[in-house]
Amino acid sequence: MQSNRAVRTLSILGSTGSIGTQALSLVRLHPDRFRVTALTAHRNREKLFEQVREFRPAFAGLTEPIDPAEIPEDLRFCHFAFGEEALRVAAAEVPADMVLVSVVGIAGLAGVLHALRAGRQVLLANKEALVTGGHLVTDLARRAGKPLLPVDSEHSAIFQCLQGRADNQPVSLWLTASGGPFRTWDRARIDAATPAEALRHPNWSMGAKITVDSASMFNKALEIMEARWLFDMPAEKIRVVVHPQSIVHSAVEFRDGAVLAQLGVPDMRVPIAYAMAYPERIPTGGEPLDLIRMGSLTFEPGDPVKFPALRLAGECLAAGGAACTVLNGANEAAVAAFLREEIPFGGITRLVSAAVEALPGLPADTIEDIYEADRRARAFVAQRLREGNA
Ligand SMILES: NC(=O)c1ccc[n+]([C@@H]2O[C@H](COP(=O)([O-])OP(=O)(O)OC[C@H]3O[C@@H](n4cnc5c(N)ncnc54)[C@H](OP(=O)(O)O)[C@@H]3O)[C@@H](O)[C@H]2O)c1
Repeated sequence: MQSNRAVRTLSILGSTGSIGTQALSLVRLHPDRFRVTALTAHRNREKLFEQVREFRPAFAGLTEPIDPAEIPEDLRFCHFAFGEEALRVAAAEVPADMVLVSVVGIAGLAGVLHALRAGRQVLLANKEALVTGGHLVTDLARRAGKPLLPVDSEHSAIFQCLQGRADNQPVSLWLTASGGPFRTWDRARIDAATPAEALRHPNWSMGAKITVDSASMFNKALEIMEARWLFDMPAEKIRVVVHPQSIVHSAVEFRDGAVLAQLGVPDMRVPIAYAMAYPERIPTGGEPLDLIRMGSLTFEPGDPVKFPALRLAGECLAAGGAACTVLNGANEAAVAAFLREEIPFGGITRLVSAAVEALPGLPADTIEDIYEADRRARAFVAQRLREGNA
């Protein structure tokens, strides 16, 4: 039987990363539903070229410029752009029903704003856009009449639990956290952990930055900030619960005491597919959840003494202005230094705490304010690294 469903066109910012490649695996699985019109990467040109060869988008971009002569002959059907232009064209100029923003870091903010200004439906994996520019992004999405479709697994879970809620507002959100690889370690051992240990996540396979953030629980701090903007929920009503099996992806509590949760095996293709096909559910190629085989699911409190990121999230949201941007920028710079093996794991939290303390009260009224706060946070970390003070 012939389907009369329209094919959705998709632009992916950050197609060579963990989320981007999983989104492309869904396009591969459902060629009758999705067609790729634009792809971008940062510096992984070989992987981008392979993707262009397979998915044949009209546009591809690299945010780190290359010599155009390096583009292989057989890819000349595709228009290439480089630098900042790459994200802008892929987000706003190339025709696309949906823009998946799956770049890592604050680079996502510009991509989201470009896409929303062009009236595109944004599927949001990138956390940092909401962490740094949540008020600008949600305001623009509201005015464009294009609510963001979350891809982050916890936020997708909450979004799924909110479907069909009519006028019932949730009274609180439960964000689940695996606890990362250091959940059972003591502070001294966590402090000295190596990149190889931090990159060994117990349940999820993800990009390097978010995997390190999961180990420090800065990932959960960013997610609290993300949830605050996505669901317009004050920080004190967003509770973190450590759930080491990563089966319950998050939950919503209503005023009658009902708690709705979304469950599934830890597989990012589920929330990516939910956003891509929304409101339909489509096969993802993953394993089904077998609750009987799971046996038991456990829950425990997060430990803000062992993982100060949990405390810093609430403090930065309460401080307002650019405090969350400072936390994010300092964390990005500190994680990069940790992955270069310049600082111990414990140095990440020390540097971020020090940056938040040293740079209070910066404004975040405009995108320029946000970039300036981000620049100052990174400069602060760079100075401390030069002084050997991490
Ligand atoms: N992975 C997950 O399971 C997961 C789950 C929830 C949320 N997220 C969020 O989704 C985002 C992407 O995560 P990921 O794990 O997919 O990251 P990743 O594997 O590191 O991939 C990042 C992507 O962004 C590109 N990129 C890197 N730096 C860039 C820059 N400065 N400007 C433009 N593009 C840049 C990379 O290109 P190159 O390959 O060329 O470097 C790559 O395509 C993050 O914000 C993360 O927090 C991820």
